[in-house]
Parts: sequence; C-alpha cells; structure tokens
Amino acid sequence: MRPGDLEPATQAILRDDWGDRRTWFEFTLVQDTCHPIVAELDDRIVGTGVGIRSGRAGWIGTIWVAADLRGHGLGRALTEAVISSLHDGGVRTLLLVSTEAGRPLYERMGFEVQTWYQILEAAGTADTDPGPGVRAFRPSDLRAMTRLDREATGEDRASIVRRFASATTTRVATDVAGAVRGYVIRAPWGGGATIAPDADDAIRILTARRAAAGPSGRVRVGLLQENEAGLARLAEEGLRPIWSAPRMIRGEPIAWHPDWIWGQFNHAIG
Ligand SMILES: CC(C)(COP(=O)(O)OP(=O)(O)OC[C@H]1O[C@@H](n2cnc3c(N)ncnc32)[C@H](O)[C@@H]1OP(=O)(O)O)[C@@H](O)C(=O)NCCC(=O)NCCS
Repeated sequence: MRPGDLEPATQAILRDDWGDRRTWFEFTLVQDTCHPIVAELDDRIVGTGVGIRSGRAGWIGTIWVAADLRGHGLGRALTEAVISSLHDGGVRTLLLVSTEAGRPLYERMGFEVQTWYQILEAAGTADTDPGPGVRAFRPSDLRAMTRLDREATGEDRASIVRRFASATTTRVATDVAGAVRGYVIRAPWGGGATIAPDADDAIRILTARRAAAGPSGRVRVGLLQENEAGLARLAEEGLRPIWSAPRMIRGEPIAWHPDWIWGQFNHAIG
C-alpha cells in the first residue's frame, strides 16, 4: 500500500459495508512495524491486508477481498503475503482475530483457535468525578506501561504505546505511592487498549471512561474468555455482551496473561 492507495482502499471497503478503515490505514502507512498491502486489478483496489510486528509475535489484520472476487484464492494470497513479510521481520508467532468469513481460510492455513475475545458494552454515566487512583498519563509512566504491556501480551508493543500515549488519550490507575498498576490508551480510530493485572484497577479505569463518555456516550471493553472473574465483575457493573470472536494462532506459543487484558487497540493489533 502506498499513500495514494489510502483513499481508494478506504472507499472500496466502505462500499462493501466493512467499516471505515481510513484512520487505521493512515497509521499503518507511517508506523514502521506495520506492513500494509493491497491487491490491484485494472487500477482498482480489490483486496487489502496488514501485518504488524510486535516483537516475535505478529498480527495479521484487515484481510479483505472485494465481494465480486471472493472464492478465487485472493484472500489466501493476501494472507500469505502478509505472513511472509512478518516472517522476514523475525516473527515466530502469528496472531489474528477472525471473522466468520475468514475462519475457514485461516483454518486451512494451519491456524488454530487459541481463545475467544468477549466484547461488552456499557452506557456512559453522569458522574463528573473519575474516581480515586486514576489520572491522566505522564511521560514518566511510559517505562512502567511498556513493561506491563509486554508481560500481559507477551508481545513488544512499545512503539505503539509510545505513539498513542498522551495526557488526552491515556489514563493510568496508580497505587497510593503513584506507581502504575494499569492503563487505557485510546487509539485515534476509537479502540481502547486496556491492561490491568488487578480487576479492581480495571473497574476503576472503566468507571473513569464511563464518566468521560457522559450519559449519551458508551464504552466498550474486550476480555479474553480466560478472565472469568473479570467477566462476572463486569456483568455486575451492568455491561452487556455484544459480540465475540476467536483469537487464532500459528507458530511458537507465547507466554502471556490473558486475564490482564481488558481492551484492544483494535482487532488487527490486539
Ligand atoms: C475472508 C475473505 C478475505 C476470503 O477471501 P477469498 O478471496 O474468498 O478467499 P480464498 O478464495 O483465498 O479462499 C481461501 C481458502 O478458504 C476457503 N474458503 C473460503 N471461504 C470459505 C467458506 N465460506 N467455507 C469454507 N471454505 C472457505 C477456500 O476454499 C480456500 O481454500 P483453499 O485455498 O484450500 O482452496 C473474504 O471473504 C472477505 O473479504 N470477507 C470480508 C472481510 C473479512 O471478514 N475478512 C476476514 C477478516 S479476519
């Protein structure tokens, strides 16, 4: 994908009712751990795919083929091209979140369902008080955040954390001494990557997000199914499930803490 492909790729996917990917593609074009690709036919963008290197793990996202050209091997070709760029970058573990349409393709390519993401939603609140122990990000939080992020995900997402963390996009939960215990980072396209080893911190972050969204807004969270206690807590808080999707894996296992993860940048990065 070149900068000139941004508009036609965005429009083609919008026409296909698969969402507005503009801000996401803009990011993939400037982020050096991303490798966005397109398929072209007679000057028309007919397919997309994105690879994202997060250390030895790599994500495959936005595999899309124009509706009139499906079933001819293009989805597989795009996925193979993304995988090959990830392998060239040293990736040993391939990860993706699959749609129903994509799952047969990935299963044929050797991916297995590792676990499921459960996406839940809640309305915002009229509280103006964000609650105790949650404050805006400061640059001095970065080191603790990237360490926490690496331990939670088993991935190296430091360059993404550094790109998006700011006082307006990011809140951190702290202990009484001010040390970082968890955080949420909002991406420009709207996702909210949230890491918190302790459920109480995750709930405090969520309460602050609901207050910031206001009564007419809504917030979404994404937990792994391993986090049974977290899912039960969020049900008590009034969150309701809106969808779920399989997380698929191929390659070396990774050491991670699925129950520390409460939200994603999006489902192409995790
Ligand atoms: C998923 C998608 C990219 C597949 O693209 P495609 O060009 O139709 O896929 P291919 O023709 O390369 O098919 C790849 C393989 O999956 C198989 N396959 C594809 N759809 C299938 C289905 N519904 N059921 C069973 N097998 C299927 C094909 O037979 C082929 O297998 P083979 O290579 O062993 O013969 C396309 O349907 C799409 O763009 N969907 C909307 C966006 C989306 O959901 N993307 C996935 C994001 S995770």
